[in-house]
Amino acid sequence: QRHLLGIEDLAPDEITAILDLADTYVDLNRSDVKHADALKGLTQINMFFENSTRTQASFELAGKRLGADVMNMAVGASSVKKGETLIDTALTLNAMHPDLLVIRHPNSGAPALLSEKVNCAVLNAGDGRHEHPTQALLDALTIRRAKGRLHRLTVAICGDIAHSRVARSNIWLLGKMESRIRLVGPATLMPSGAADWGVEVTDNMAEGLRDADVVMMLRLQKERMDGGFIPSEREYFHRYGLDAEKLSFAKDDAIVMHPGPMNRGVEIDGTIADDINRSVIQDQVEMGVAVRMAAMKLLVDARRAA
Ligand code: CP
Repeated sequence: QRHLLGIEDLAPDEITAILDLADTYVDLNRSDVKHADALKGLTQINMFFENSTRTQASFELAGKRLGADVMNMAVGASSVKKGETLIDTALTLNAMHPDLLVIRHPNSGAPALLSEKVNCAVLNAGDGRHEHPTQALLDALTIRRAKGRLHRLTVAICGDIAHSRVARSNIWLLGKMESRIRLVGPATLMPSGAADWGVEVTDNMAEGLRDADVVMMLRLQKERMDGGFIPSEREYFHRYGLDAEKLSFAKDDAIVMHPGPMNRGVEIDGTIADDINRSVIQDQVEMGVAVRMAAMKLLVDARRAA
């Protein structure tokens, strides 16, 4: 691959290669000297047109730990605010000869559009409702390390599926790895046509979580609801918020995941999120750095080999 635009484009063996390399970077990141030189001499530019804590910080750390020169473009202080288009902004940065361009953008398809205009590798850090490929890869690494495999697991993805790029990337990835996927959420937050995606769909948490190996909770993404129906948080928590009672329907050793940022008391009870025997939410953050290191290293290798 020359870019990482979505999980849809990846073959199962490409996913496995990223996860295998990321496993080695987990060890590096836990060591005293967190440096390798796989990206030494290369330039990485991060362009985040939407807010981010985890993705932006981990892409920056990932590049720095592999020896790249990393520049975070301050979108709010850039000429985008003077009306410069996304394409012109990217062409301007491209003229500075970056090797890796990481982009988060509210519009689905923005990273793919840029990838046709620039000479470097483009990594999608989340585009609209479309995909968030490195999130699905870090989720997969977290699941594989906790469960020892990715195939033949029952994974319940719960909440606001309609507005979630995390859900879409995970559905692609877990489907390619032959896991059983259940989408659980109110009909108003379920994409039309979801039943045709090769997944099970239900609006009932007890049914959706029954015997699940993995319970993945999603945030209500109000910023993408465009004035549409927004449920009351109290009612939503009552019916769809993960608490001990709802989690009891899953397997006894089921893990609880959340991509973050989470809204405690809305989609998840804080005590469940903090329960180190069930929650792997902090592991997901840790895996994020390793997966982004692996993705960038493999893209650079592929370009050098081409
Ligand atoms: N999971 C995720 O994308 O988090 P951020 O928005 O903080 O990057």
